[in-house]
Amino acid sequence: MATVPDWGEKTSGSEVAERFQGSIRGRNVLITGVSPNSLGESTAAAIARHEPNSLVLASRTKAKLDEVANSITQYAPRVRVHCIELDLSSQASVRKAAVQIASTVDHLDVLINNAAVVTSERKETAEGIELQFGTNHIGHHLLTSLLMPLIIAGANQPREPSMARIVNVTSQGYRLSPIRFHDYNFQGSEVPPEEQPAEWIPAHMKPDPASGKPYYVFTAYGQSKTANILHTVSLNKKYGGEGIRAFAVHPGSIWTDLSRNLAPDDLKIIEGTSTFWKNQDQGVATTLVAAFDPKLAGVTDRVYLSDCQLEDVVDHAKDPALAERLWLLSEQLTAGDGQYS
Ligand SMILES: NC(=O)c1ccc[n+]([C@@H]2O[C@H](COP(=O)([O-])OP(=O)(O)OC[C@H]3O[C@@H](n4cnc5c(N)ncnc54)[C@H](OP(=O)(O)O)[C@@H]3O)[C@@H](O)[C@H]2O)c1
Repeated sequence: MATVPDWGEKTSGSEVAERFQGSIRGRNVLITGVSPNSLGESTAAAIARHEPNSLVLASRTKAKLDEVANSITQYAPRVRVHCIELDLSSQASVRKAAVQIASTVDHLDVLINNAAVVTSERKETAEGIELQFGTNHIGHHLLTSLLMPLIIAGANQPREPSMARIVNVTSQGYRLSPIRFHDYNFQGSEVPPEEQPAEWIPAHMKPDPASGKPYYVFTAYGQSKTANILHTVSLNKKYGGEGIRAFAVHPGSIWTDLSRNLAPDDLKIIEGTSTFWKNQDQGVATTLVAAFDPKLAGVTDRVYLSDCQLEDVVDHAKDPALAERLWLLSEQLTAGDGQYS
């Protein structure tokens, strides 16, 4: 259980950060996906107010990173803010960013894998991987592997509790699709029933067979967000013994720029998916609980949080065999060397 059982959808990130300020002070925290009006910005802002040692902001657009960093230095002048250009849709960029990060900090206490993209049109990464899977999961898988020496160094810092955290920002949209191992790239290979969207999902939220197109935006998003959770399962299995705990977080529904690449009909679908829209500060509360609540250090039976509390997930996002299969696929798609190069 988390420290505060009463926290829920209306809890603000500021309140969570204040409560856990002892876990933030002096820590090195890296956040991916930081630009004005994003959850990455609000996450950074809430943390910056409680004297972390270093805040490493890693994202795609330098001008947006600089804008966020400049505003942080106005209200938190003592925090070291480092901006790293990182394009998760290019593995060369991920490798370059990892080298820069390693020359910026000697350890990481918290890695928050927050960046994501959603797009109605099928696109690909530099390596030819479907863009949502390739950016939201594969890019973060590679980044996390490359940063692992720094995270292990974070877990070994001499202090109590001695531990490091990895937070993968997922979405309750993970329910929309399992990992499509037979067609993760949406190229039209036959997909067995257990890899297809579940029967209960409404017709307007899954591919229309009459369209003849294998790609559907929300199935692809769902696959990438399931991958975020299965990645979390694997990180705990492989690195739990090193003092690292990983959690996956659904932040809630918040109007950000995430929908910028949606076609008008797809945007309408999103508008109908929530009865409560959180503000930005409320939208980062669950991420901050996952990153800093000391009580979560002892949790080993669940990995997913929503509205500031642990929750169970459906089988396709927690089966250890699927997690291992995804890990092997991800290693294969990133050449699997896990080394700085
Ligand atoms: N907002 C919601 O209602 C909601 C609901 C459920 C889950 N989530 C999750 O919350 C997280 C944050 O989303 P958000 O709402 O803050 O979205 P957002 O406003 O679109 O922010 C996404 C961030 O990711 C960055 N990014 C996109 N592609 C990238 C790439 N290839 N390499 C590096 N950075 C990249 C963007 O940078 P640029 O601006 O420079 O492109 C931006 O800073 C995501 O994981 C999302 O899936 C959000």
